[in-house]
Amino acid sequence: MVPTGGGAPSGWWLGAAMPRALTLCVAMGLALGVIGSPPAAAGDDDGAVAAGVHRAAADCAEVKCVALTFDDGPSRYTERYLKILKRHGAVATFFVIGSQVSGRASTLVTMAAQGNEIASHTWSHPALTSLSGGQIRQQVERTARQVAKITGKRPSLLRPPYGSVNGRVLAALGEADVAAIMWDVDTRDWQSRSPSAVFGHIKRETHRGSIILMHDLHRASADALERIIHYLDKRGYTLVTVTDLLGGTVKPGKAYYSGRR
Ligand code: NI
Repeated sequence: MVPTGGGAPSGWWLGAAMPRALTLCVAMGLALGVIGSPPAAAGDDDGAVAAGVHRAAADCAEVKCVALTFDDGPSRYTERYLKILKRHGAVATFFVIGSQVSGRASTLVTMAAQGNEIASHTWSHPALTSLSGGQIRQQVERTARQVAKITGKRPSLLRPPYGSVNGRVLAALGEADVAAIMWDVDTRDWQSRSPSAVFGHIKRETHRGSIILMHDLHRASADALERIIHYLDKRGYTLVTVTDLLGGTVKPGKAYYSGRR
């Protein structure tokens, strides 16, 4: 079901790499000639990250990695998340809802071009535990086709809506060739809608290997994102995609809550 083999598909090159955000972003920006203003300046970063720039992949066995993840998009806020990530040379993993993708194809193109990982959050956000195996596979397949039509790559990771999994769901996900990605830091951004509350969760709960749950359906985490990236960078964390966090060991049908501690 997954057309690409075990190696690193070309589209992952950018995703495979995340420089220490702040220390490197200025240097990279100068090297690429794309940063004309300090990182604090907002909304003016249309300079393209040069496609095909091969950064050395972060080795999460060597450095402290964490993964930012965003669910429930793409939404009208997603481009804002992408701009902030780009300004800091950071990458994240976006678990997109398939039915929301068609009107926002260009957002997915930008997402992929910046080296972010595009993963699945099903087609219509049902609790998978309430579906039959066939219905689960359909949720995965329909989304995979939609994403692949735009980016050329099928997602290999899926976040179950509501974190709702059981053995039967995992078996169906295994047949559909995706792994279930859970989280260990829940910012509860959808509930508080408060940037400072989001930041507080991250400050208190993040450790090496964390998978941090946020939602790009709302703006709260976007309002907190710059502060989050600065904080994690200062604490010595490297931001990577979930696939990189898990070090290429992801198996379809398995559930993952965090990476190497
Ligand atoms: Ni969701």
